[in-house]
Formats: sequence, C-alpha cells, structure tokens
Amino acid sequence: MLRNRNNGELRLSNVNEKVTLVGWVSKKRNLGSLVFIDLRDRWGITQIILEESSFPIVKDIKSEYIIQVTGTVQAKEVPNKKLKTGEIEVLAEDIKIINTAALPPFLIQDDTDALEDTRLKYRYLDLRRPIMQEYMMNRAKITKACHNFLDRNEFVEVETPILCLSTPEGARDYLVPSRTRPGSFYALPQSPQLFKQLLMVGGMERYYQVARCFRDEDLRADRQPDFTQIDVEASFMDMDDILTLGEGLVKEIFKEAKGMDIPTPFRRLTYDYCIDTYGSDKPDTRFGLELHNITHILSKSSAEFYQNAKTIRCIVVPGVASSTSRKVQDNLDLTAKKFGIGKFGFFKYLNGKLESSLLKFVNEELQEQLIKELGLKENDLVIVGQGNRMRVTACLGALRCEYGRSLNLYDPKSYDFLWVVEFPLFDHDEETNTVSPSHHPFTKPLDRDVHLLKDHPEKVYAAAYDIVINGYEAGGGSLRIYDQEEQKQIFEILGFSEEEIQAKFGFFVNALKYGVPPHGGFALGLDRMAMLINHTDNIKDVIAFPKNLSAVCPMSLAPMPVDKQQLDDLFIELKKGE
Ligand code: AMO
Repeated sequence: MLRNRNNGELRLSNVNEKVTLVGWVSKKRNLGSLVFIDLRDRWGITQIILEESSFPIVKDIKSEYIIQVTGTVQAKEVPNKKLKTGEIEVLAEDIKIINTAALPPFLIQDDTDALEDTRLKYRYLDLRRPIMQEYMMNRAKITKACHNFLDRNEFVEVETPILCLSTPEGARDYLVPSRTRPGSFYALPQSPQLFKQLLMVGGMERYYQVARCFRDEDLRADRQPDFTQIDVEASFMDMDDILTLGEGLVKEIFKEAKGMDIPTPFRRLTYDYCIDTYGSDKPDTRFGLELHNITHILSKSSAEFYQNAKTIRCIVVPGVASSTSRKVQDNLDLTAKKFGIGKFGFFKYLNGKLESSLLKFVNEELQEQLIKELGLKENDLVIVGQGNRMRVTACLGALRCEYGRSLNLYDPKSYDFLWVVEFPLFDHDEETNTVSPSHHPFTKPLDRDVHLLKDHPEKVYAAAYDIVINGYEAGGGSLRIYDQEEQKQIFEILGFSEEEIQAKFGFFVNALKYGVPPHGGFALGLDRMAMLINHTDNIKDVIAFPKNLSAVCPMSLAPMPVDKQQLDDLFIELKKGE
C-alpha cells in the first residue's frame, strides 16, 4: 500500500489516527531540531513534522522529491488558516524516498513569475501547480455536465473522422498528405459541420460529440490551433427549441462546475442592436457605456469631416474629463488609427459647459442638443468617432471595454449570458461587391428575407445565433438549409461554379436529395467555457498542452522537419531554402 489517505482530507476528527501519505515535497523548513515538510498531492497539502536527529535520510530530501510518510495525526498548536488541512499535522514515524527530482526551473506554487514559454516548456511541472490542477478539474466538470445533460435529453454521442475532406469554415485548413494517393491531402476538420448534418440525413435525430477541431488562423488569447467543441445537432427542432436546449446545457455546466444556478432564458439581442449599442457582436453587457449615434447633430456642424461622414457615433465616459490630458487623447487616437477611422473628437463637460478644440465648428444650439441628448453630467468625457459604421462602432466598442475595465464598472467575477440573434447571412465587401458566408454556407436564411436572396443578398439575415458570455463568443450555431435548391442558390451567390460545387461539396449536395429533415445545432467552445468558468483570459491556462502564439508546442517543439524517407514515402519534395 503506497497511501491510505490523501494530503487534502485530514482534519481534527482524524487526530491520533495512523496514516500513510505520499506526495511531492513542496517545501522543507528547519526550526531548531524540528523539520517541517509540506507534502503535496492532487488533493492538497499536509504538513509533516519530525525530529531531524531521528531521520538522517531527511537531509537528502529536496523540493519535488516524492516521499512516503507514515505517522500519527496530531492537532497543530497554531492552525494554518490557508490550508484545508491547517488544523492538523502528521508526526512522522517512518519516511521513505520514492523518487528524487532535479531542481525545477521555477517554484511549483500558484504565484509564479516564470515566463510563459518556460512554463509551457516544462508543462508537466506547471501542471503540478494547484491552480492548474483546479483549472483542469473544472474543465473535466464541464464535459461531465455536457455528457449528463445531453444523455438525459436523448442525444447520441457519435465520433466523426479526423482525416477528412476540407470543410469551408473560414480558416485555413491543416493538411495531411496521403501516402496511398500521392499528391492528395486530407484536411483536419475545422469542425464536424458537414458530418453532423449528414448524421441528421442518416436519421440520428440528436447527435453530440466532444469534438477536436483544427484551424490554421492567427492566434489570439482566446484561440488555439487545435481546440475542442461540444458539438450538437438536432432534427425537427425549431430555433426556440434549440436555444432552450443550449441554455439548459450552459445552466447544467455552471451548476456542475461552479455550483451556480444561472437564470434562464437568456436575453436575445439582435446583431444590429449589439453593433449599434455596444460596438461588438459579442458584447460584454455587464456594464453600460453604450454607444450613441449623433450623426443627426454633428453632421450639421461646420466641420467638413463631420458633414461628409457616413456616420458619427460616441461614447460618454463618466468622471474622467478633467483627468484626460492631451497625451491621453493622443494615445486614444492611436486606437482610432488602428481601426482606420482617423482621429477622435473629444468634448469635455466641465463647469456646466462643453470644452473642446472642435467648438469652433459646433454652434451653441448644437452644443445644447449634444448636452441634452447625451444627458451629460459634470466631468463627462465624450469621445466621438466618424466614418464607416462597422469601423466606428468596432473602435468605440473597444474603447468602451477598456474604460469598463479600467474604471471598474463591473465585478470581473460576475457573469452575463445572452444570445445574439439575426446575424447577416453574408459578410459584404463593399470594395469588391462580393459576399462571403458570415457563419458557414449551410446556414438557413431567415424565412422573412428569402425573397431578397436573388437581388440583395447583402440584406438577408440568417437563422444564426451565438451564445455570448462576458464579451466572449462561447458558442454559435444556426438552423441549416435542408432544401437542395436553396443550398445551390447560396453556393451560386458565393460564386461557386457547378463544377466547384460538385468537387467541393458533391457528396453533401447529393445527400440533400434524399429526404433531409429540418435541422439545426450549435457548438460550444469547450476551451472558452473553461476560461469563463475559471475566470482566466488566457486560453492556454485551460489546455493541458497548448501551443504558443506561433502555433508551436514549446515542450515537444512540434512542428518539426521530418526525415527525408518520410517525405519520400509521401512523394513530397521541399522547395529549396525551406
Ligand atoms: P464556430 O466557428 O462559431 O462554429 O465555432 C464554435 C465555437 O468554437 C469556439 N472556437 C474556438 N475556440 C478556441 N480556439 C479557436 N480557434 C476557436 N474557433 C472557434 C468558439 C466558437 O463559438 N460548425 C459551427 C457550429 C455550428 O454551426 O453548429 C462552428 O464551428 O467558442
């Protein structure tokens, strides 16, 4: 027997019990002739106490050695409130070294100043930190909740291929060369989208999968090249049924992983409302600072840049006007530049009137209108952006989030859940006048807009929805097209020729002939849910072995060149210099 107790469970009620514990040496301290060892395992830390003179072996014991201790539980004179086991200690009677350990490159504790690349290089040591173990365990609770909930709702878990034909989901594919068909490639799935729809054609009716997905895209703090979705699809459910199902799933996740009862149904906000009000299609609605449209006021000013602007929007930041220096304004302008909208206009409401370098363009009547319509209060700062709607709103939306954070306008540990609905079916590129799918090409247009498909596809909205939690897109989905002709029409609008449709989606389009049920679904980003549950803004914290921002695994150093023989087997020749 290696242990009969773990290091997180002993309490005062165990005093006088004889126990055998194992674990890693988290800390060893000498106090006169006494030695104290903090012994750590997955369940916690227990303090071991011993007389140094009785255990010569103890001199050899160093941090992260694995030891086995047999001893008797006793009450501590001064309890350690920071530990669950802080009321007791174990008086050692026997100690064995089970394994030695090299000096770790950083301290194994929650507070660490180790560089992220060092932590990722020695991830197996990083994972020993109690906080990382908590992240991983919470993540597992999320998948457990999904299995329980979906199983109870008669969803069937089905695995779909990892080596497949490329599914167009917007990102670049990871490709795998075929040895048996030289010159041909599999793509790793960006999501199981087509397969789950084909499972509906196959009569499964309710499918789910904890699905690994692969996307070669620019990485961000909430993106990884390989990530996991809780992927769900159902037949004969309308949009309300599916949104209710999604809410039930998220509710169960929060109950299981956090013990929280979250209120359902979630609010539903339309995409356009979110863009105009929050400058984002995944708004953090835990605080106000909404955007205002003031085009009707400032376009009447004598400034040409306002007269000619497509739209003029602003946010009103409370209590910062007097402390916003020229330098701060210049810094804010850098954000405006990044979003391609020139410079901001600044209006300060101080001593009951507006102050701004732009007042020469804005007569008193317009000033009064601004003050009244924006409901300005002493020390408010009005930040104004002008130009194209999407850029201006995105830019002000980013500022809104920055101010929300820096002014502590919300409790970072609170949650806010919503559905964003009625997305445009297509993204429209004004310069080239072309459209691309805003979700994916299998998304159903809203019935009310189908008549616009032919002449005004850019005006068509989709039966698509995203689950947004605290400003993160935690999941998304849609009802799918189940009519052959409608699917063909969408491909045509996207500019695919008949041959391309056959080559890329022939197998799928063909299936649409055979009695396809109305269906729809969604996918929750498991990693993002784990970030939210654990209150971390770094996706790497919740993935056991993540990649860095260059999509490299700092531990194994993948990707790496391979032997010439392996390339020869695949009929691959590298270009010179690469
Ligand atoms: P979508 O592309 O919106 O939809 O993805 C669904 C959810 O997956 C998560 N996600 C990611 N998480 C981490 N790293 C990434 N690179 C990444 N990309 C996406 C997000 C997102 O909301 N097949 C459709 C779903 C459907 O229509 O049913 C799909 O994949 O949380």
